[in-house]
Amino acid sequence: MLKKILYFFTMMLVVVSITSCSNTASTKASDSDGKASAEYSKIAKAIGVEAPIKSGKGNSVVSILEKDSIGEPTTRKMPSSCITTNKKVVGKGKFLYENARGKGVKKPKYGISRTMKKTDPGYVAERQKWRPYGNCVACHDTANIKAPGNIGPSLVDYKANFVDTKVRTPEWVFAKISDPRVDNPNTVMSVNHTTFSPAEICAMMSFIFNNKS
Ligand code: HEC
Repeated sequence: MLKKILYFFTMMLVVVSITSCSNTASTKASDSDGKASAEYSKIAKAIGVEAPIKSGKGNSVVSILEKDSIGEPTTRKMPSSCITTNKKVVGKGKFLYENARGKGVKKPKYGISRTMKKTDPGYVAERQKWRPYGNCVACHDTANIKAPGNIGPSLVDYKANFVDTKVRTPEWVFAKISDPRVDNPNTVMSVNHTTFSPAEICAMMSFIFNNKS
């Protein structure tokens, strides 16, 4: 008899704990799903994107969308005296154009990585001004660059082939690099005005325009 009573109570305990567990779990899930989906719809509407809703730790889809929300394509105006042959600026442009974060990447001959030491005053500020985030080499070839990608067109002898021949104007190139969607709404090229200042885009253009095979 005692065994039966014990068995009964044990079973009751198991049943009660299972139900309460699953209850809390489902309430929590639906709460965060609700919040995520409301927030998601708001952002999706703002940037005009339709995508499946996935809930996750920290509403990852929502935070990624929020972070990546860069608004409609806009034609950016090229500053005056944008292109230069100044070796320091061209060196900086090369530094930004490459993925200079990787170990073993050849540092540009000119520009901060050669001219400034970590211990120099102003190094940190200068380093922040010239961020090596471009990674244009992932998609574009240029002369004397190691292992470029070929997703985008080759930019070898770009000035001679496209600018001197009037196929492209410098203004067009500036707008294209800043926000490639102005030329091709379905482009795979990264939007750059959110990462780089106009001076940094001009430095990259100076590197491209001075890059000859
Ligand atoms: C993910 C690949 C990718 C990355 C990264 C990329 N591009 Fe592009 N780029 C393209 C593609 C593809 C095109 C061709 C046009 C298009 O589809 O938008 C293009 C076009 C261009 C053009 C215009 C060529 C012409 O005259 O038609 C320039 C200039 C250019 N990219 C420069 C850059 C620079 C500078 C960077 C780095 C800041 C960069 N690209 C990063 C893929 C990329």
